[in-house]
Amino acid sequence: MGRRTRTHAVQAAALLLAFLHLHVAAAADPPFSCGAASGAPYCDRKLPMERRAADLVSKLSLEEKISQLGDESPAVARLGVPAYKWWSEALHGVAWSKGMHLDGPLRAATSFPQVILTAASFNPHLWYRIGQAIGREARGVYNNGQAEGLTLWAPNINVFRDPRWGRGQETPGEDPAMTGKYAAVFVRGVQGYGMSGATNSSDLEASACCKHFTAYDLDNWKGVTRFAFDAKVTEQDLADTYNPPFKSCVEDGGASGIMCSYNRVNGVPTCADHNLLSKTARGDWSFNGYITSDCDAVAIIHDVQGYAKAPEDAVADVLKAGMDVNCGGYIQTHGVSAYRQGKITGEDIDRALRNLFAIRMRLGLFNGNPKYNRYGNIGADQVCNKEHQDLALQAAQDGIVLLKNHAGALPLSKSKLSSSSIAVIGPNGNNASLLLGNYFGPPCISVTPFQALQGYVKDARFVQGCNAAVCNVSDIGEAVHAATSADYVVLFMGLDQDQEKEEVDRLDLGLPGMQESLVNKVADAAKKPVILVLLCGGPVDVTFAKNNPKIGAIVWAGYPGQAGGIAIAQVLFGEHNPGGRLPVTWYPKEFTAVPMTDMRMRADPSTGYPGRTYRFYKGKTVYSFGYGLSYSKYSHRFASRGTKPPSMSGIGGLKATASAAGTVSYDVEEMGAEACDRLRFPAVVRVQNHGPMDGRHPVLLFLRWPNATDGRPASQLIGFQSVHLKAEEAAHVEFEVSPCKHLSRAAEDGRKVIDQGSHFLKVGDDEFELSFMA
Ligand SMILES: *[C@@H]1O[C@H](CO)[C@@H](O)[C@H](O)[C@H]1NC(C)=O
Ligand SMILES: *[C@@H]1O[C@H](CO)[C@@H](O)[C@H](O)[C@H]1NC(C)=O
Ligand SMILES: *[C@@H]1O[C@H](CO)[C@@H](O)[C@H](O)[C@H]1NC(C)=O
Ligand SMILES: *[C@@H]1O[C@H](CO)[C@@H](O)[C@H](O)[C@H]1NC(C)=O
Repeated sequence: MGRRTRTHAVQAAALLLAFLHLHVAAAADPPFSCGAASGAPYCDRKLPMERRAADLVSKLSLEEKISQLGDESPAVARLGVPAYKWWSEALHGVAWSKGMHLDGPLRAATSFPQVILTAASFNPHLWYRIGQAIGREARGVYNNGQAEGLTLWAPNINVFRDPRWGRGQETPGEDPAMTGKYAAVFVRGVQGYGMSGATNSSDLEASACCKHFTAYDLDNWKGVTRFAFDAKVTEQDLADTYNPPFKSCVEDGGASGIMCSYNRVNGVPTCADHNLLSKTARGDWSFNGYITSDCDAVAIIHDVQGYAKAPEDAVADVLKAGMDVNCGGYIQTHGVSAYRQGKITGEDIDRALRNLFAIRMRLGLFNGNPKYNRYGNIGADQVCNKEHQDLALQAAQDGIVLLKNHAGALPLSKSKLSSSSIAVIGPNGNNASLLLGNYFGPPCISVTPFQALQGYVKDARFVQGCNAAVCNVSDIGEAVHAATSADYVVLFMGLDQDQEKEEVDRLDLGLPGMQESLVNKVADAAKKPVILVLLCGGPVDVTFAKNNPKIGAIVWAGYPGQAGGIAIAQVLFGEHNPGGRLPVTWYPKEFTAVPMTDMRMRADPSTGYPGRTYRFYKGKTVYSFGYGLSYSKYSHRFASRGTKPPSMSGIGGLKATASAAGTVSYDVEEMGAEACDRLRFPAVVRVQNHGPMDGRHPVLLFLRWPNATDGRPASQLIGFQSVHLKAEEAAHVEFEVSPCKHLSRAAEDGRKVIDQGSHFLKVGDDEFELSFMA
């Protein structure tokens, strides 16, 4: 093993030297403990991790202990413990962060699409492979001596509740079940687990972190900041919207990290909420990992929220709640005095430290040089390797959503265009860094959409049209001129990181500044209907473009990552058949009349509150959740052979409760695991691609209730699978329906119940009725 690894390192170094000209030094050793035989129990690999962590903690002085409770944990030289940096980012690829440095021999990492676009593929296997690639690249960076940590603070799995949220782009969208699935498979990939089956509790390739726990999805709206925001959340919304992604991240993904958020929930800062961190996460979900605060989220409990009277109280509140490490230096500053004042005990400190060191041990950082251990063969050559870069391209291809395609405006004909001219217009058409969204690192390649299109058309011209997405300085005249003189026009509009990002929520859902007028004037002037490509994370109201016949096609491409420019060109020229579907509702501009601070999911007709997301929103949409066209036509129907629910009557002994609206329902917990297992059945959907092109197509299975009384969702996604079908090919797709999980709903007090009576499985326009009778 040792020798093979060394050879490998030499090859990697050679590769790197070929890559760069300045850094001649071979890759340094990564930081680790327990190199020389020390004989200390904390270095003894045969002992259980908890024993080893407890042994190390018992050897630390009070000051040393407190020093370890910040994201920058200093070395404890006398015990051979190196410094550790907890804060590393890898939302959609290894990114710039404190703990990982892409400025050494390695200077780039694979940049996958921003998560909202990857989500649009509705393809868990793709999500899993991206997680795997990220875990592997993070380990490669570490082994190459360019990291001081392997705790990655991803995924972001807050439900994308409000279209204005600047960080909605980072999430898998608005559906809690889909977000939970994304969380679980991404975490499994990052941590080195299988896509299904048991989550191994010990070895970690890298550590993933479910953030931000919980009900965090407002950054800065009309002066209300995430630091001060107190989210008022009902038990019902917590149970069926805000918490399910976290539950799945922990229970199904085996996540080793959780980050508590900045905001309060019903008055209590999440990092100081024992109920949330200890009772729910560690207790109900059996979470076995570390809990970090968001950065400076402990300080704000005193400084901004005034929830803690003194800094030492804030320290006590979070440690007693079950938080382990503070991103920031607040506990390091105030921890010793909190202890001296008797506000925290030695055990409060040790409990947190044992969780922290156990993670570092699970990462293999207390087993001698990681290069010669498990994962030691992951070298620099894994970072930006061909497999990962191909995956980044596939993710962009499979996420892109075709929103409008009138009279076959797309795909463009390669043969026609090779001898025609094209005008590429718009602020988002020729900017490579814009493709990356936020939380990015230096990508392996940079190709803008305009550059990619130049590969197809000799006579291609680019006109920016506006200063940037803000579009408050424009040259519409130049854009119109370019449009009149070209055979084809493609516009690249949308948002950028000045319009939507961390700490910036939008106030308006339209295209910014003069974009709309630029698009309309260019469309008017062009010889043929124009193609509009939208690069943005959050949804925009493009009703004007939907209704304008001079705009032949609309494509949404999120922030598509390093290969996004290429993927867009391939979609426009029909080399890839688009199959992505929207993971969020696209609301009309009027939605901004709803205060972003109103956390209620359910509509309240008495006040005109429209509710949120496809599950509860009662207003008009620009495009709905799950919407997306293709160059092919697909049909779906339930296969009667195969879809066979068991009798759902006579379960017996169940206490029925009737709601005020008269709905009779049964408590799922009371039904018990055995009855729940017995009720599972397969639902089989026949899906066909009627051509003319091969394509990948996500099949979405929904549950619909007969009505929306008792706060039921209008419908709920209960399963999805992405299938590749050749033109004219048909396939049967099987879903497992578990009535306890899929037919149930959250009652007002958060309990899961199943209603007596009809339920409908729905795929496309086809429905299958089920009846539940206890
Ligand atoms: C997880 O466990 C399985 C089977 O027990 C094993 O094959 C696999 O290598 C383990 N993976 C990790 C990351 O420990
Ligand atoms: C390109 O996009 C990035 C990210 O949105 C932005 O910061 C930068 O200013 C843009 N560059 C130009 C020339 O517009
Ligand atoms: C355009 O908008 C940006 C960002 O809001 C602002 O800084 C700049 O001053 C504006 N420029 C003009 C000409 O209005
Ligand atoms: C709604 O549907 C349930 C069955 O799921 C039924 O018991 C109830 O009467 C219906 N309510 C209305 C107002 O139609």
